[in-house]
Amino acid sequence: MTRVAILGATGEMGGRVARLLGRWIPDAQVIGANRSGRGHPDFPVRAVDVGDEAGLAELARGADLMVNCVGPYDHDPMPIVKVCVQNQCHYADLAEIPEFVARARNVAKVFEARKRGVAVASGCSTVPGLTQLLATAWRNRHDVVSVDAFLAMASKSPGSRALLTGLALPLGRPGPSGRWYLRTERVETSAGRRIRGGRYPTAFPAGGIRIGQRRVPFRFYMGFDRAWISLALAFFAPVIGWLPRRFIPALAALMVPVARAVSLVGSQRGVLVQIARDIEGEELARVEIVASSGGLDVPAAPALWLAHRLARTGSLPVAGAVDLDQLIAWEDARAWFQGAGYEVVER
Ligand SMILES: NC(=O)c1ccc[n+]([C@@H]2O[C@H](COP(=O)([O-])OP(=O)(O)OC[C@H]3O[C@@H](n4cnc5c(N)ncnc54)[C@H](OP(=O)(O)O)[C@@H]3O)[C@@H](O)[C@H]2O)c1
Repeated sequence: MTRVAILGATGEMGGRVARLLGRWIPDAQVIGANRSGRGHPDFPVRAVDVGDEAGLAELARGADLMVNCVGPYDHDPMPIVKVCVQNQCHYADLAEIPEFVARARNVAKVFEARKRGVAVASGCSTVPGLTQLLATAWRNRHDVVSVDAFLAMASKSPGSRALLTGLALPLGRPGPSGRWYLRTERVETSAGRRIRGGRYPTAFPAGGIRIGQRRVPFRFYMGFDRAWISLALAFFAPVIGWLPRRFIPALAALMVPVARAVSLVGSQRGVLVQIARDIEGEELARVEIVASSGGLDVPAAPALWLAHRLARTGSLPVAGAVDLDQLIAWEDARAWFQGAGYEVVER
């Protein structure tokens, strides 16, 4: 029986990881954790803080996989990754924040995760994990010189404070090629829908996304099913970027009721469009994942795939600081998306 410890199991994303496990691996044992030790009717929840090394070690000793869902990933991953490696428990998180992912990977190296046979998969979610996995479909294409990805989130999805903090943190802040999200770009989906998003940072190394043995520039655009929400974010980005970072969680808390109001006029439709381009910037190939509902399960699914692989084979194929595409094949992920009712378009 596969044992999965979920840190932050009572939150929006942790709850989804638990629900997906219950649906797809019914005999998996889920052990939840949060600060209070309360809050879920279906599995035990222990009181463990992300900084409590002794509590984390006890959790890791009783698990095959630890999934860290404690957003907005402004904590230090060191104690969690360290105890996972020391107790031979594989580790995954849903972080999108580049500094967090870099730190988790570095801790995996310092504590010799590879030697100990432990996989440390930070960023094991939509970005960078799934986008890197989608790019493996083009691993033999030498004409791909850049990749763009557009994520349009369903505005009816629940917006927790952690999700909104993660969303707002980079807005208007300086990046390598100007400030993030000051402008928006549009792309048309295969079904003829236009989606709009602003440039967003990702946790890929400076060289970009991996295509076979190379790295090529990766541009990521984040937006919503309703173009006006993306335009409003671009409008407010300069002001948000001017605020000290420590005020963003408070701003996000104020935005939770606004997100709830917006969801009343929003849709359930989410889509991820990833496009491979040639030297002229022309589209060579694309993959789309379309959710008519349940789009927020997509960032939770990679943790499920890891647990599924553990349940099936008893191990993960590689150890050390690893990317999602080293653990899971795109063909298996595609089969899961289709089985779960998502539409996958490849052309
Ligand atoms: N990479 C991607 O593509 C991607 C996609 C989607 C989401 N995400 C990220 O996923 C994150 C998850 O956010 P969410 O919406 O699930 O947050 P949430 O609903 O606020 O849940 C946070 C959970 O963590 C627990 N928690 C908070 N502080 C803790 C601490 N110090 N120690 C232990 N547990 C603690 C909370 O319970 P208590 O308060 O009771 O402790 C709760 O269970 C967000 O940061 C988001 O940015 C990433």
